[in-house]
Amino acid sequence: MDNFQFFSPTRFIFGKDTENQAGTLCKEFGASKVFIHFGGGSVVRSGLLDRVKKSLSEAELDFVQLGGVKPNPEDTLVYEGIKLCKQENIDFILAVGGGSVIDSAKAIGMGLCYDGDFWDFYSGAAVPEKTIPVATVLTISAAGSEGSESSVITKTDGMYKRGCSNDVIRPVFSILNPALTQTLPVYQTAAGAADIMAHIFERYFTNTKNVETTDRLCEGLLLSMLRELPKVLEDPDDYDARANIMWAGTVAHNNIIGVGRKQDWSSHDLEHELSALYGVTHGAGLAVVFPAWMKYTMNHDVMRFAQLAVRVFGCEMDFFHPERTARKGIARLEQFWRACGLPIRMEEIGGKKDDIPYLVGHLELNGGTLGSFVPIGEAEAAEIYGMMFEK
Ligand code: NZQ
Ligand code: ZN
Repeated sequence: MDNFQFFSPTRFIFGKDTENQAGTLCKEFGASKVFIHFGGGSVVRSGLLDRVKKSLSEAELDFVQLGGVKPNPEDTLVYEGIKLCKQENIDFILAVGGGSVIDSAKAIGMGLCYDGDFWDFYSGAAVPEKTIPVATVLTISAAGSEGSESSVITKTDGMYKRGCSNDVIRPVFSILNPALTQTLPVYQTAAGAADIMAHIFERYFTNTKNVETTDRLCEGLLLSMLRELPKVLEDPDDYDARANIMWAGTVAHNNIIGVGRKQDWSSHDLEHELSALYGVTHGAGLAVVFPAWMKYTMNHDVMRFAQLAVRVFGCEMDFFHPERTARKGIARLEQFWRACGLPIRMEEIGGKKDDIPYLVGHLELNGGTLGSFVPIGEAEAAEIYGMMFEK
């Protein structure tokens, strides 16, 4: 296991009706004027936005609001948010929504403390040193942004989807009420779950040896996803199953399962180009990317794939042909995602083979490679995109 530091300062407030504590929590964390950020309207329709505003008013806090964050959030609204926050002397941001809203809020928070263009943090031209505090009320279990040190934004000029990762942008608190996810369409619930599983896979496939503790944490989380997701898809009002998925989503990405090991993340990079070009939901895009990436990289460490197949997907170990066990595990993952209504091939998300050169050209390779488990350059990326079409 490698040396590591683990810093997860976010306070999590978990459970039923916890959104009603938003006002007192913002006050406790030093807010005087709050910027409420939200998405395309689900929080308006559900009444959540009104409850949050009531809670802020009861805590005698001023606020302004800006909705309209799109899934796969864009830079244009970030600029608008920064301008509005400056005009209004905002000192605290409350994101009410999913990963897209939270990521947009994180970008605005950093941008407010920076004289240059906030995009510098996403292009790699600058490193964020501070932000005004960002807190969240989460409405979908998926991205893990409620506890993560990341934000992903799309630059509309050229449709570049890029991430910024730094501990300064971890939310100060996150309110997690699983009941808020009950209004999600089935497809979004399933796509969110695929994203959670993908965050685990990105950490699980490592070249670092002797990481049994984090391997077992990863496997435990995957097993609980395999058990809880079908329950929610069958009964969307199953609070306890939603609660288990919500906490899995946070733990899968606040990095407690990724410490002390080299992580991969090339599948996320490959997927971000699919979201940017086809507008596909991030988790659904990952359900297309991962099986192909797994088949491509499997022989690099077939025993690790066989371990996943046996410990998580219940396959029997074939000691004479471990690659058969590994393949069976990947097939079971595909079956699971398919049964949950997710796409697993490019055609299902509108992908075209002719787009492969464009997708590869857009990757942030800078002459180098993606990932670490198996370094992925242009030729490898093209091959993996091609494998996403195979039946
Ligand atoms: O915009 P509204 O109307 O709120 O609708 C949203 C949106 O259409 C809807 N929704 C959310 N909660 C709902 C709901 N509808 C009904 N009831 C609810 N309770 O769901 C749709 C998707 O929302 P979004 O915020 O886009 O989902 P998600 O949390 O999956 O976020 C995806 C974004 O996060 C990024 C992705 O790349 C993508 O841009 N990621 C961020 C990460 C991070 N910051 O650490 C890591 C991830 O790997 C990921 O890359
Ligand atoms: Zn993700």
